[in-house]
Amino acid sequence: MSTVIKGGTIVTADRTYESDVLVEGGRIAAIGPNLSGDTVVDAEGAFVMPGGIDPHTHLEMPFMGTTAAETWASGTYAALSGGTTMVVDFVIPARTDGGLLDALAAWEEKATRQACSDYSYHMCVTGWSQTVFDEMEQIVARGINTFKHFMAYKGALMVNDDEMFASFQRCAALGALPLVHAENGDIVAALQKKFMDAGVTGPEGHAYSRPPEVEGEATNRAIMIADAAGVPVYIVHTSSEQAHEAIRRARQKGMRVYGEPLVQHLTLDETEYFNRDWDYAARRVMSPPFRDKSHQDSLWAGLSAGSLQVVATDHCAFTTEQKRFGLKGFPAIPNGTGGLEDRMPVLWTKGVKTGRITMNEFVAVTSTNIAKILNVYPRKGAIEVGADADVVVWDPDKSKTISAATQRSIIDYNVFEGFEVTGLPRYTLSRGEIVFADGKNDAPRPGRGQFVPRKPFGAVNKALSVWKDITAPRMIERKPEYMPIGV
Ligand code: URP
Ligand code: ZN
Ligand code: ZN
Ligand code: ZN
Repeated sequence: MSTVIKGGTIVTADRTYESDVLVEGGRIAAIGPNLSGDTVVDAEGAFVMPGGIDPHTHLEMPFMGTTAAETWASGTYAALSGGTTMVVDFVIPARTDGGLLDALAAWEEKATRQACSDYSYHMCVTGWSQTVFDEMEQIVARGINTFKHFMAYKGALMVNDDEMFASFQRCAALGALPLVHAENGDIVAALQKKFMDAGVTGPEGHAYSRPPEVEGEATNRAIMIADAAGVPVYIVHTSSEQAHEAIRRARQKGMRVYGEPLVQHLTLDETEYFNRDWDYAARRVMSPPFRDKSHQDSLWAGLSAGSLQVVATDHCAFTTEQKRFGLKGFPAIPNGTGGLEDRMPVLWTKGVKTGRITMNEFVAVTSTNIAKILNVYPRKGAIEVGADADVVVWDPDKSKTISAATQRSIIDYNVFEGFEVTGLPRYTLSRGEIVFADGKNDAPRPGRGQFVPRKPFGAVNKALSVWKDITAPRMIERKPEYMPIGV
């Protein structure tokens, strides 16, 4: 059985051209004019793009005394309906001194049974021990080449600088890429106490206790630690000019640093936390918080300038009922928002339609750059012969108003409620199967998604390790009388 995507304009990270796409055995078999196949997907008037990859999700994540309510089934289905064909989720060990393999088993149990889209994992390092050191190698052997470190969430997931340095060195040796949640956790904890003591107990206290400087400082520190360890580094949810500045400066110095703004930070600002409706404000509590609007210009500029490479969601969705755990004080509001379903339409509407980014940049930041950085290109992130046929047929004229009432996500609200978006998937194909056809084939199929293993030693790791070796400090050879006795 073959499928042909007919009459569309192919948009990749570097080209725009008219062509048909033939799909066989789940892969792209041919690209060219006048192709035919058993099933025809109508792409007339539409753009044919690589399916989106969301590099940052937390489906059913146990966190802050509860578990994110978005399930693997609902989250990956929401993703497909919005044009995202692969998610990369964070595996969190239950202990800080090991348990990486146990955690992976727990994630596999949930994902295998439920995933509608393909998926991959990042592993979190939440402490340091010989066991963590040993298990990291086994994790890499299992197809996971990225390790996330939290500089925030003191007393829970946070690691200290020495732990991070040890883990980064291990990443360098294994050809893996460290990821960092960059906020100074000690200062956040102190500011949380300060505002709680002052009676600022509502969601606005969340924003006040995590100012952009706290993120900028931690981003600089993470970059310095990565440089000392000789490893590239990927900063997740870059939300502020301060963090972007640190990334930009490092890149200009030749350092291998990546930055990942979220669609939320690009389009929503901190006034959301000042809403008089507690539920409204608490639903938007995530870390880092939404920022003053001025930061948005910086993030958009980073995407077009190339100093920021990818757009994610950090989808970590809690119900209103769960958010209300924080009525006793903002530090207890479960941190996280949603966006899996809306990332592509919102980015298209606020980015491509406004001329902030081009269609090709849109493909780069939602798919191709992510596949390259995570070392899964061109199997994913490409419209190329041999690539997985993860394709979105994007209708630039299709509009809707985002609303929790009509979304596929099972959460009872949506942070983009009321956004009018133009540019939506007409069809989404995953490994050649039509998994979403608006109004026609609109049902989740849990369990069809497959794990996508990712090999270590991407080109950037290799280049950096060669350069670091050439430029490493070396001892100066001196006459024997100047050498310590016995050497
Ligand atoms: O608030 C957030 N971002 N929740 C998810 C966990 C994390 O920090 O990425
Ligand atoms: Zn620790
Ligand atoms: Zn984070
Ligand atoms: Zn996250």
